Amino acid sequence: MTLPGKYYVRLLVLLLTAAVFISACSSAKSPSPEDEDLDNLPEFTLEELAEYDGKDGRKAYVAVDGIVYDVTDSRPWKNGEHNGFTAGRDLTEEIKNVSPHGVSKLRNVPAVGKIKE
Ligand code: HEM
Repeated sequence: MTLPGKYYVRLLVLLLTAAVFISACSSAKSPSPEDEDLDNLPEFTLEELAEYDGKDGRKAYVAVDGIVYDVTDSRPWKNGEHNGFTAGRDLTEEIKNVSPHGVSKLRNVPAVGKIKE
């Protein structure tokens, strides 16, 4: 069975519209590199966090507002030390009330976990 040419054109337009629609929907759902998906990050107790003190080749993690950040590769956090503070701890109060920069500097370091409630 053959159809008149205009039906093929309509079918093609319909298929193209559907393809554009589907690809727009799926791209809206795919995560952007900026938003760290906190739901999928591992949980740490404060005891576990204490092991990440940046000493003897261990990684250096700090917690702020329930999020664990990796400061291992951060220059001002060499060996897990930074202006008198040591990694492996919750430093929420300190970063907010003692540091001159506040939480804005956390944008420079990756979030790697969250604190177990
Ligand atoms: C007396 C207290 C503190 C002072 C004077 C201080 C000072 C500074 C300065 C000057 C920088 C920029 C260094 C650079 O870019 O070379 C910095 C970065 C940073 N600070 Fe502090 N800080 C203090 C406390 C804290 C605390 C308690 C935290 C807790 C998490 C913290 C977390 C950070 C982070 C994550 C960075 C960014 C590191 C990077 O860019 O790699 N700081 N701090």
